[in-house]
Parts: sequence; C-alpha cells; structure tokens
Amino acid sequence: MQTVRSFFVPQWSSDVRLDGKTAIVTGGNVGIGKETAKDLAGRGARVILACRDMVKAEQAVCDIMREVKGAKVVAKQLDLADTTSICHFAENVYNTEKALHYLINNAGVAFCPYAKTVDGFETHFGVNHLGHFFLTFLLLDLLKHSAPSRVINVSSMAHTMGKIQFDDLGGEKDYHPVRAYAQSKLANVLFTRELAKRTEVMGVMAYSVDPGMVNTEITRHVMRPLVDIVKTFSMMIKTPAEGAYTTLHCIVTPENQMHTGGYYRDCARAQSSRAGQDDGTALKLWAVSCHLLGIRWR
Ligand SMILES: NC(=O)c1ccc[n+]([C@@H]2O[C@H](COP(=O)([O-])OP(=O)(O)OC[C@H]3O[C@@H](n4cnc5c(N)ncnc54)[C@H](OP(=O)(O)O)[C@@H]3O)[C@@H](O)[C@H]2O)c1
Repeated sequence: MQTVRSFFVPQWSSDVRLDGKTAIVTGGNVGIGKETAKDLAGRGARVILACRDMVKAEQAVCDIMREVKGAKVVAKQLDLADTTSICHFAENVYNTEKALHYLINNAGVAFCPYAKTVDGFETHFGVNHLGHFFLTFLLLDLLKHSAPSRVINVSSMAHTMGKIQFDDLGGEKDYHPVRAYAQSKLANVLFTRELAKRTEVMGVMAYSVDPGMVNTEITRHVMRPLVDIVKTFSMMIKTPAEGAYTTLHCIVTPENQMHTGGYYRDCARAQSSRAGQDDGTALKLWAVSCHLLGIRWR
C-alpha cells in the first residue's frame, strides 16, 4: 500500500549483481557515500572508499564488512582539497587495480565559511568540482580500459540556484556559502554533460544525480535552528540509504535505458535547470577548469 511518505520518498530496489566489477566512492566513510558503498559491496563489487580521514575510513570498512558478509572493500586516502593527494590516490589505484567500472564522485562540502583548498581554490569549487574533475581526468584511462564504465557525479537540487561566476569563481569579490555551494553543484551537472559528449565513444557514460534531501552530516555548517526547521518536514527527508538510491539506479540500470550526460532524481531522468543545460557554459567551464589545474584535456 502506498504510504504518504513513499509519495515523497519513492522506494527502489534491484537484484542486479556486480561481481567482478570495481567501484570507487569518494567520501565513502559516512552518509550517502557509505550507503552507496555498502550496497555495491552487497552486490559483489570490489569497492574502494576514497576518504580524506583514514581513521574514519577504516571504521567504515569495518562497519561494511560486519554488515555485508564477504564484502570486498578497502580504503585509500584521498583529499580532494589537495591536487597532490589526488595524484597520489590515482597513482595508487593504477598500481593496485586492473579495472575501474564505476567512479562515484560523491564527496562534498556545503555551506562552509570562506576558505581555500591547498591549491588556493575556494573550498566548494575546489573540492566539489575541481577535485572531482581532476580525479576523473587522472582515472579516465582506467575507465576507458574497463569500458563499459560509468562516472556518477553527485550534484544537488541546489544547482538550480547556481550560476557559474566566471569573473569571481573563488567568491573573492562577494562570497556567500549558499551561492558557492550552488555554483559547485551546477558545475557537477555541466561537467557531466561535457564529459559524456567526450567519452561516450570510448564506452564511458556519465550521469549527474540529485540524491534529494537526506539526513546526513552535510548540514554541519548550517545553523542548528535552520536544520531543525527543515527536519520538521521529516516525511520528505530521506535516510542515507534512500539517498543512495538514485546513484545506485545510475549504476545498475542497463545502458540502453539511460541517457549519458543526463541528470537523475528519484531514480528517473529529470530536467536540470536551464543553466544546467547550457552547453556553452559547460564548454567554458571545462576550459577554465583545465587552465586552473594546469592540465590539457581535449
Ligand atoms: N544530504 C543531502 O541532503 C544532500 C542533498 C543534495 C546533495 N547532496 C550531495 O551528496 C553528497 C554526499 O553528501 P552527504 O549528504 O552524504 O554528506 P556527508 O555525510 O557530509 O558526507 C560528505 C563526504 O564528503 C567527504 N569530504 C568532504 N571534503 C572532502 C575532501 N576534501 N576530500 C575527500 N572527501 C571529502 C566527507 O569526509 P569527512 O567525513 O572526512 O568529512 C564525507 O565523507 C555531496 O556531494 C552532497 O553535496 C547531499
């Protein structure tokens, strides 16, 4: 029987197995990432938790191993706020993995006070967009070699409030944490669109995802009373496991039922904002991202 809650939070399940597949989940130690990793491990995939804090990461590995019998899960250090760490992580992956079928760019920060990454990028733009852009660039050869493979970029409904401020990407002239988060999540959608165009012929598909409103630690920088107000709409708030559904849908659904470059919400294709469909901005963002990172990615 359909409950009121299931109207707001559609349920999902699939019995697809992923034996022999390898997945990387950034930010796999808590929240949506941990639930995504646990589900993938339960389907038989080898899962790499890519985390900045190895103590938390090893704890997550133990939790998943306890809950999923025979789970093949390991943790590797990755700080998306540091391009040197991203290079070391990628090098480690190339040294240990023969294949990579799913790269799940899930980690994220939200609504942080103004700060910069090790490389001097504003934190939201640096971690949520540039960090994952660079990681994908470095791992693309392995994804191509393992094709058919998929990249999932975890965006947000917040992208609809976003604008790519090319004249102030770092928010140095005028910083607002909500704007900075929204810009980074729009960047996730635009990156996905442009990536898909370039990699479809190689057998690497790309999808962006809005997980919905999920009860995780992402609100750690938001004032408590505001969080409490939002939580009064608890019927619409997903558990972390429910927050992982759309990412998992984009992994297990047969390719001919998916649209590479597309934006997904509640386990179905959805429409991103008009700004999220602007191919000119996507191309410019690609060029600017390459320039900022000092890479050539044609
Ligand atoms: N929760 C929601 O309502 C919601 C809604 C829309 C979109 N999203 C998106 O969903 C994704 C997952 O968020 P969540 O809700 O599960 O939040 P979360 O519980 O706060 O998890 C975020 C993860 O990102 C990791 N992370 C942050 N900075 C990092 C860095 N520099 N390098 C590597 N990892 C880093 C965190 O590591 P630590 O544990 O070390 O901090 C953590 O594992 C994010 O991209 C978020 O934007 C969430």
